[in-house]
Amino acid sequence: MTVEHPPSPKGSSAAGGGTVSTRDGGPPQAFQNPGLPAHRHRMADTDPTAAKRAERQVVALFALSALGTVIAMVAYFAFQLEGDLASIQASTLGIGLGMALSLFALGAGAVHWAKTLMPDAEVAEERHAIRGSDETRAAAVEILGTGAEESGIGRRPLIRNSLLGALALFPLPGVILLRDLGPLPGDVLTHTLWDEGVRLTRDPTGTPIKASEVTLGSVYHVIPEGLDEVSHPLEEKAKAAVLLIRMDRADMQENDPARQDWDVDGIYAYSKICTHVGCPVALYEQQTHHLLCPCHQSTFDVTQYCKVIFGPAKRALPQLPIAVDDEGYLVAQSDFNEPVGPSYWERGER
Ligand code: FES
Repeated sequence: MTVEHPPSPKGSSAAGGGTVSTRDGGPPQAFQNPGLPAHRHRMADTDPTAAKRAERQVVALFALSALGTVIAMVAYFAFQLEGDLASIQASTLGIGLGMALSLFALGAGAVHWAKTLMPDAEVAEERHAIRGSDETRAAAVEILGTGAEESGIGRRPLIRNSLLGALALFPLPGVILLRDLGPLPGDVLTHTLWDEGVRLTRDPTGTPIKASEVTLGSVYHVIPEGLDEVSHPLEEKAKAAVLLIRMDRADMQENDPARQDWDVDGIYAYSKICTHVGCPVALYEQQTHHLLCPCHQSTFDVTQYCKVIFGPAKRALPQLPIAVDDEGYLVAQSDFNEPVGPSYWERGER
């Protein structure tokens, strides 16, 4: 696009303007510097009543921010996590809305303060080297001091105090959220709901399983009986989930004398929680008796007590010793033979 400029004497520029070269290398042309538009005063600059109103609005926004922080903290305690989705959603929504209100009102108050009450002057600054001279740096410190002075933070104690109050309250939700880091897990990682005599039931119906119902080659997803009666069923299920597999005992490649009575006529029970990072190991290859974890393809061989034969997992799946009760239902003999799921530092000490 070609821009027409008024002609000017060669090598000169008009007062308040500059020179530009044409694209074809012709003589430079002058252009008029349009300058800054006339300064318009804000209402708060000329009307003390408007300034007072703006001050009240800023205070109200900072107070709103403090209220949002309090709401976030109250929501944290009011909506206890019960282990179900509804309580998690209520807690997350309450804390999130409180924090959002707190941050938004804090930002809006600061912007409103700057736009209505702080000095409204256009300032031109010359370019300079990146590191300023000592004089410039001293001048910068002076400017900062002037800025602090002009912001009126000393003259408007109500704004200053409400801002300090909002800022002081704002980190508190982060502090109380640290409470969720405790208490220490104790032995919850080493034990599951399985215990002597606990029946194996179908997931998710919870109906008990008779040994006679488990046909050769079949696989059941299993949970312990009474899971829906505990206080944190999802957490307990995440540890206690079991895969029940029936195969011909003659297919076993390993025979550990210590595990001779841990199965019922070739019905084996193994933890469904991958020992890599805890995905459910739910894919069973009936022909090879391999269990596959879909997350990173760790493969466990049931004929070798679920030893890892491929993938990043480092430990075999823990086995659940099982038996049959008087009514023919499958029951656990005890808890798993070792902690389920991914490894952790203290696992070997328990
Ligand atoms: Fe199973 Fe990674 S979680 S292989």
